Amino acid sequence: MNIVILDGVLFIASVLLIVGLRKLSNPDSASNGNRLAAVALGLGVLVALVYPVETQNNNYLYIAFGIVVGGFIGIISAKKVPMTAMPEMVSLFNGFGGLSAALISLVWMVNYHFSGEATELGIVLLNLFLGLVAFIGSMVAYGKLSGRLKDHHLKIPFNKVLNIIILLVTVGLIVVFSFNGYLSTPQTILFIVLSLFYGITFVAPIGGADMPVVIASLNALTGITAAISGIITDNKLMLLGGVLVGSSGIILTLLMCKAMNRSVLSVFFGNFSATKGAENQVEGNAKEISASNLAIQLAYSQRVCIIPGYGMAVAQAQKIVKELEENLENKDVEFKYAIHPVAGRMPGHMNVLLAEADVSYDKLLDLDEANSYLETTDVAIVVGANDVVNPSALEDPSSKIYGMPILKLSKTNNVIVLKRSMNPGYAGIQNPLFFKDNTKMLFGDAKKSIEIILKELKDV
Ligand code: TAP
Repeated sequence: MNIVILDGVLFIASVLLIVGLRKLSNPDSASNGNRLAAVALGLGVLVALVYPVETQNNNYLYIAFGIVVGGFIGIISAKKVPMTAMPEMVSLFNGFGGLSAALISLVWMVNYHFSGEATELGIVLLNLFLGLVAFIGSMVAYGKLSGRLKDHHLKIPFNKVLNIIILLVTVGLIVVFSFNGYLSTPQTILFIVLSLFYGITFVAPIGGADMPVVIASLNALTGITAAISGIITDNKLMLLGGVLVGSSGIILTLLMCKAMNRSVLSVFFGNFSATKGAENQVEGNAKEISASNLAIQLAYSQRVCIIPGYGMAVAQAQKIVKELEENLENKDVEFKYAIHPVAGRMPGHMNVLLAEADVSYDKLLDLDEANSYLETTDVAIVVGANDVVNPSALEDPSSKIYGMPILKLSKTNNVIVLKRSMNPGYAGIQNPLFFKDNTKMLFGDAKKSIEIILKELKDV
């Protein structure tokens, strides 16, 4: 087919992809944005299939097999995976993106008999390294997010030092192999093993509350490898998509660093505070409140603020929270949502859930807005959040989340925590908030508790 036409289709696909991604920034247009981006990528795949390349091997049968099997697995898993498992699923997808980029590098090396021009081979090896790190790192992140891997499973002796040594050795090997212009099969295997090992030592020490930073940086890595793969295969759409994902991943990494109060350097050298400090044992008596008393308190409040966390996703309580909003607004109560940037298990997790329940975006307050709003709030209801409201981050220098910005509830008149038990959150640490004078607990599944509150509100 005429190359000009194919390039024209790629150009249209690029525009569709950019417009599609832009639309993702607003919940109202996000579904259409997703469809546009899918059409753009579909066009990209079609063009890649018919684009004339030097080493045309007529591999269409293999490709068709890959599309059918991959498509089948993709559709089934996207339909079957519950919303609560979405963060793990996103991690898996991210990892397979990295693996694909690594495989592209390997195929290039095999086609060119493991040799090439120095810069070209250097780029291909860099891509192989980054792709494998993104792959194995995302698999470890998947294990941690799904609870299959605990921090103590991944205790590697001298992890930090090992991490830096492997990184230096791998970079050194990229330089040496590139200048040699050649890699033997054993050298390639050694390189792959080292890259995979670095991926593990990169993510393994990152525990608890620090995970969001590593997830965002793995996202960025996959984007960068996709961009490099675009250069290697001369596929402009892949280059563009990779640049967009890579750059937004870097921005997200910086935002997550800010949200967790960590420096970027500590991310890349695995210098997280997973083992800092012996964790505090908080003692005291937590006070409880009944749903009927809470309903009365809410009905006579002027300002109510919801603080959603991972537990809201588990309970699937977003729609019932929206009903509570409507009910209280009918009683002239002002109703807002305080969103912490790392609440939940993936960036934007709470925004996605609340958008699904049709909560208006202008009711969502970011961390700074929320913290000043919470000073004058009558009742703040913590719906399955824990680490993001843990005052140890402000008060206890020995805590491993010390320094992390949190939603501050010390000046809020009444704080009500909806959760099932006194168990800690993701970071695995006690929360002194539960024992503060202005805090009361309403134990139970968040959705069920709010259902009861709504029933009680009818009688108020
Ligand atoms: P968490 O600290 O994980 O606390 C969630 C709380 O929800 C738990 O204490 C749990 O207590 C409660 N819960 C669970 N199921 C519930 C249900 N059905 N009904 C009521 N409550 C329920 O959540 P968070 O405050 O959102 O903080 C997020 C944490 O995850 C941070 O440490 C963050 O660093 C980390 N993390 C975030 C991300 C991103 S990118 N957002 C990624 C990875 C890790 P019970 O068991 O007692 O009910």
